[in-house]
Amino acid sequence: MKLFDVYPLNNITISRALGSYVWDDQGNQYLDMYGGHAVISIGHTHPHWVKKIEDQLKQIAFYSNSVIIPLQQQLAEKLGKLSGKTDYELFLCNSGAEANENALKLASFHTGRKKIIAFKKSFHGRTSLAVAATDNPAIVAPVNETENIVFLPFNDTASLQEYFEQHGETIAAVITEGIQGVGGINIASDDFLQAIRQLCDQYGSVFIADSVQCGYGRTGRFFAHDHAGVDADIYSMAKGMGNGFPIGGILIAPHIRPKHGMLGTTFGGNHLACAAALAVLEIIEQEDLMKKAMVNGSYIIEQLKAIPDIQNVRGRGWMIGFDVPDAIKDLKKVLLSEYKTFTGEAKPNVIRLLPSLALNKEQVDDFLQRLREAIKFIQTANPSS
Ligand SMILES: Cc1ncc(COP(=O)(O)O)c(C=O)c1O
Repeated sequence: MKLFDVYPLNNITISRALGSYVWDDQGNQYLDMYGGHAVISIGHTHPHWVKKIEDQLKQIAFYSNSVIIPLQQQLAEKLGKLSGKTDYELFLCNSGAEANENALKLASFHTGRKKIIAFKKSFHGRTSLAVAATDNPAIVAPVNETENIVFLPFNDTASLQEYFEQHGETIAAVITEGIQGVGGINIASDDFLQAIRQLCDQYGSVFIADSVQCGYGRTGRFFAHDHAGVDADIYSMAKGMGNGFPIGGILIAPHIRPKHGMLGTTFGGNHLACAAALAVLEIIEQEDLMKKAMVNGSYIIEQLKAIPDIQNVRGRGWMIGFDVPDAIKDLKKVLLSEYKTFTGEAKPNVIRLLPSLALNKEQVDDFLQRLREAIKFIQTANPSS
């Protein structure tokens, strides 16, 4: 049987990983500035995370949500403590799309309304409502098309206000990333997030903070939206939550009340996933990783701004992007093939840096050196460009 060919692949087989490095089956070591798409939060195969999963595996890996699973409560308490959202409630699922799907559904149950406001260049996942709220028609199947989603320009408070003034009573939710990831590292301005909060309060709509990529400490605060000093009604989470063990979830503000049967999933909140997620939070706390992300992220942003060959350096903590001009358009490819460095991208010309929050200063300097050399390599190979 062949694999269903939906992923454009690098011709590399990763067979081992530790911290911010991965090794291929030929023994080549790579610096991982991509974190497997922002998933690696505490570093690959962190020993505490491995031990916690191993120990749990020997006890019980899975039982359904028909019994009490104390690990879920422990996870909820730790999440409340680290995020500061102590009075929110936790629903666990398995992925980012599923988290957003549940968030949107819950907003509709809560308000009794159907309309969702999403924004240009958003990405919220590939399940039916999450993909409908994603601004990329190429991945929306005909069956997912719905008039219930409205796309407004990102960071445009005036058009948001105008839409609310005309249709406020029909709006179930506004969903936005704190920093758009797939859309190219676009930071939601404080004013914009504050306006969403105020309009949702005024019209009784639900503010959903998609924190699947930008959350979990990646920007130096637990949620990227925290930088604007606002609380959302629902936060969706996934990527960094399990450091590679599949788990997602939503944090729900106390005014949104549950009912038995309202949401549900077979695998969500299983013992093994909770053990992995607890290990992640313990390491974020013990190793002060949010602060580390803030300090090293600010440092690299300053250093990147001093490299004249790249443009529009932007981001927060370890969610960073810069534009790659045409003359060095192969930069990502060259970084990988010649300098053994994984980076992320956003089409058409953005390089994204989404490494583990545990990346240290020496590794940051090592990356900067590789980047400068890769730029020189391209310029030497194409002197006219
Ligand atoms: C902001 C955002 N939301 C949702 C998702 C979907 O997450 P998943 O791939 O785990 O379904 C992603 C994935 O890249 C994302 O970046």
